[in-house]
This record gives sequence, structure tokens and C-alpha cells, in this order.
Amino acid sequence: HHQPLTDNFARQLTYLRLSITDFCNFRCEYCLPNGYQGKRPDDELSVSEIATLIRGFAQVGTRKVRITGGEPSIRRDVVDIIQTIKQTPGIETVAMTSNGYKLGKHLANWQAAGLNQINISMDSFDADTFHKVTGFNMLPQLMTDMDQLLETTDIKLKINSVLMAETAFQNLITAMDYVKNRPVTYRFIEFMQTSDNSDLFFAQHAQAETITDYLLDHGWQTNDHGSADGPAIEYSHPDYLGRIGMIAPYAAHFCDNCNRLRVSSLGKVHLCLFDEGNYDIREHLRQNDVEGLMATLQSFMPIKPEHHHLHDSNSGMMNNLSMIGG
Ligand code: GTP
Ligand code: 5AD
Ligand code: SF4
Repeated sequence: HHQPLTDNFARQLTYLRLSITDFCNFRCEYCLPNGYQGKRPDDELSVSEIATLIRGFAQVGTRKVRITGGEPSIRRDVVDIIQTIKQTPGIETVAMTSNGYKLGKHLANWQAAGLNQINISMDSFDADTFHKVTGFNMLPQLMTDMDQLLETTDIKLKINSVLMAETAFQNLITAMDYVKNRPVTYRFIEFMQTSDNSDLFFAQHAQAETITDYLLDHGWQTNDHGSADGPAIEYSHPDYLGRIGMIAPYAAHFCDNCNRLRVSSLGKVHLCLFDEGNYDIREHLRQNDVEGLMATLQSFMPIKPEHHHLHDSNSGMMNNLSMIGG
């Protein structure tokens, strides 16, 4: 029996976010404004390395694994990866964050492999805007695929959309309509500044309150925020089946309940979304060294930061979220 991972601020780290590729087929203007991502590395973590990784994490308390990217579904072995994680003793929940490009094609396989939750990035309900933001003209297909998911599977669906000043209110109105009769949580993510999106950031950044004040004025109520709930605050309304949520990473207390660690597609641990991932665990994975991995993870506990430093004027800025999947 092993000691569960607990940091110096008494936070239990039960949630792993695992990026399986840095590459994305989309070019969202807020994330990859410069388009080109370079050459895709040929040494992304293999399925057997992932199996070792998850065995180690599960034995020190990980219960939920979220597969991220880049776009995780561009990996041909993604079904194998879902299944491998799901079958590891101790793991209760397997989730994925995806742009939905292959949702329709793979839905049945993902469900069969044991996927429990999916968060789809969908920045607009308007087909032309969606096309402009992502570079792909596939909103109608995506909406059909999401309805098919709701009708044919028990996978829990959330939608993520980056909060932009210009589209915020229209998105909110349409989203309320969308969740009226669907058991879906539609979440805004406050736009985060990265080193290559500053122009768009200054033009379009909007405060979370532009949305949350409206909701509170119109009969929506804040749900209790359990410690396992992650960064989103969710609002519900008696007349609506689904929920509206807000992720506001710049808000105070955002990090108090942090329960997560991240591993990159090349096997580096990030102790915080905003750190550089200087902690390499790949050798343990190559050697199938679960004991060594667990000891190394324990050694990180004293140095997991209490909170991010987005408020410090001279803090380092992320390159873009595709590198670690948010
Ligand atoms: P669930 O709570 O499991 O549904 O997942 P999630 O909301 O953590 O996952 P998702 O991949 O949908 O993440 C949405 C966004 O939340 C990410 O892109 C980040 O912007 C933000 N986020 C997730 N985790 C953190 C975190 O630890 N710190 C900060 N600052 N932002 C985070
Ligand atoms: N600010 C806020 N959210 C972002 N995402 C990507 N880049 C940013 C950013 N700069 C979102 C994606 C996806 C989630 C994982 O992160 O749209 O929904
Ligand atoms: Fe945890 Fe860092 Fe995210 Fe804060 S910013 S919630 S400390 S990972």
C-alpha cells in the first residue's frame, strides 16, 4: 500500500491530465495564431509507456485521467490508450478533451473502450464563425455528432468555449437555448494571454462577470463547488436541464482546490499548468519502473506551487495551450 500524493498545502492530487500529442489539426486563432507547429515528434509516449505511467499514478492516488493534446484523436491508437487507462486498477474515470473532429466516426469505439466524459471545444454556434476561428467548416456535423452522443451513449458531455468580448452575449443566449433540454454543461473559459496571441487578447479579452452577472440576474444559481470539481463554477436553473459554467483562471482562489498534475506527450511532469515541465519521468516509463516512478512523483510534492503567478507582472507566459492541453 502506497501513500497517496498530497502536496504541502494538503491538496490531494487525484486527477491526472495526460497529453498524448502536442499536435492539433485545427488552428484556432487564440491558440495557434501563427499556424505552423513544426514537425510532429516521432517519440510521443507509447501505449506501453502510458500503461506504466498510469499504473504508477493509480497506486499513489490518481482516480481520474483526462486525455488531452494537442488533439488527442489524431493518434491512431487513441482507442487503445483509452482502454489501457480505463482497465488500470484504481482508475475510476477516463475523460478526454477534443475538438470533436473525429467524434462521429469514433463515438462507438470510444464508448466501448470505456470513455466516461468528453469536453468538446466549440467556440461558436454560428457555422461561419466556427469556420473562421478553427479553419474547419464542420459545425453542423459536430452538432449532429454531439446529439448522437447524447442519444446513444452515457458519456457525459461538456462544451468549452473561449470567452470573447465580441461574441460573448450571443453565445450566452444561444447556449442557454441549447442546454434547455439537453443534459450538457456549456462552459466559457476566460481568454488567457499567451506569448503569441497578444493582439487578439487585448482586442477580445472580457471579464467572467459579463456572463456570470447576467446569469445571477436571470434566476441562475451557483452550484456548490466540490473539491473534485476542478476550475469551473457551474450555474443551474430550474427550467433548464443543462448548466452554464465559467472557468476564470485569473480569479483569486482559483488554485485552492487544485487536485491535478499534468504529464506531457514526451513524458515531462508539469506541477502547474503554467510551469515549464522540467521534471522528466520518461526513463521510468521506458524501463517499466513503476516503483521508481512513484518515488519520483512523491519527491515532487514539496515543490508543487501553491498557485500560479499570472498576476505577477514579470511572470513567464505560456507559448500556447496546445503544448500541454490546458
Ligand atoms: P473537468 O473538470 O474534468 O470537466 O475538466 P477540466 O475543465 O479541467 O478540463 P478541460 O480540458 O475541459 O479544461 C478546460 C480549461 O480549463 C483548460 O483549457 C484550461 O483553460 C482550464 N484549466 C484546466 N485545468 C486548469 C488548471 O489547473 N489551472 C488553470 N489555470 N486552468 C486550468
Ligand atoms: N485561453 C483560453 N482557453 C484556451 N484554450 C486554448 N487556448 C486558450 C486560451 N489562450 C482552450 C481550448 C480548449 C481548452 C482545452 O483550452 O479552446 O477548449
Ligand atoms: Fe493548479 Fe497551477 Fe492550475 Fe492553479 S494554475 S489550479 S496551481 S495547476
